[in-house]
Amino acid sequence: MNWTRDYFESGGIVQPRLEAEILLAHSLDVDRLHLYLAPDKPLSSDERERYRALIQRRRSGEPLQHLTGEVSFFGLRFRVGSDALIPRAETEELVDHALRLAPRDRPVRCLDLGTGSGVVAVTLARFLPLSSVTAVDISRPALELARANATLHRVDDRIDFVESDWFEHVSGTFDLITSNPPYVPSGEIPELATEIRDHEPRAAVDGGEDGLDALRTLVAGLSHHLEHGGHVLLEVGHNQARHVASLLEEGGLASTDVRRDVSGKDRFVVATCP
Ligand SMILES: C[S@@+](CC[C@H](N)C(=O)[O-])C[C@H]1O[C@@H](n2cnc3c(N)ncnc32)[C@H](O)[C@@H]1O
Repeated sequence: MNWTRDYFESGGIVQPRLEAEILLAHSLDVDRLHLYLAPDKPLSSDERERYRALIQRRRSGEPLQHLTGEVSFFGLRFRVGSDALIPRAETEELVDHALRLAPRDRPVRCLDLGTGSGVVAVTLARFLPLSSVTAVDISRPALELARANATLHRVDDRIDFVESDWFEHVSGTFDLITSNPPYVPSGEIPELATEIRDHEPRAAVDGGEDGLDALRTLVAGLSHHLEHGGHVLLEVGHNQARHVASLLEEGGLASTDVRRDVSGKDRFVVATCP
């Protein structure tokens, strides 16, 4: 494990010791704590081989989460893979804001646009027991992953999965609309870390020339699908929030508010349908 830590460190991996431990525990199919409970246990040659293969894949840039196949999000375990974006910590904050806006004492109709692995849709369904959720994505494999996560958390009976280009196949109005759309300007994609550039689906990241293609389409569709008094919550790139807030105001939405993420960046835009 010490050798792996140094090898990862020299490859620029930010938390080399932690990742060495996570991959060793994963290749032994035990919890990370187990490594500390049995630190002298020798590895069998099969175990060594499994660990070695994971180390090489990680060092060549595959994301840790693709190797373990899971992430923790909002205290829940989710399956992840190369078909959908690996959920980010900021998106947990998006869910936190959404839960604060949603009424608890009556049924809430939620729409999650660009659901990916389904983390937002499933977490809303789990924490809002009276809710029904429509989860939309253009990617069928992503929707299958989202459905598997909904089944894992026993909320599949309250989530409707819709394959759609944003609002194209969505009907009806909603009390709460969430989206973490692709928002990276196309020209910046070559500069991204290899974990993102080479391993995340392009459709999950690429927001077009100025990064705002998806956000513009989403804002334009809100007037037909947001219920009066309903809220929309968007996650955006760190320099896009003010622009998106103006788009929402021009689109007739009220009480527009820009909120920061834990690292102090303008990251979320909230608005209400008057
Ligand atoms: C940044 S990812 C967000 C995934 C997930 N909601 C999360 O926060 O982890 C954006 C998602 O939007 C989806 N997407 C991209 N273009 C789309 C479109 N035209 N219509 C619907 N979904 C789209 C992608 O497939 C991807 O799953």
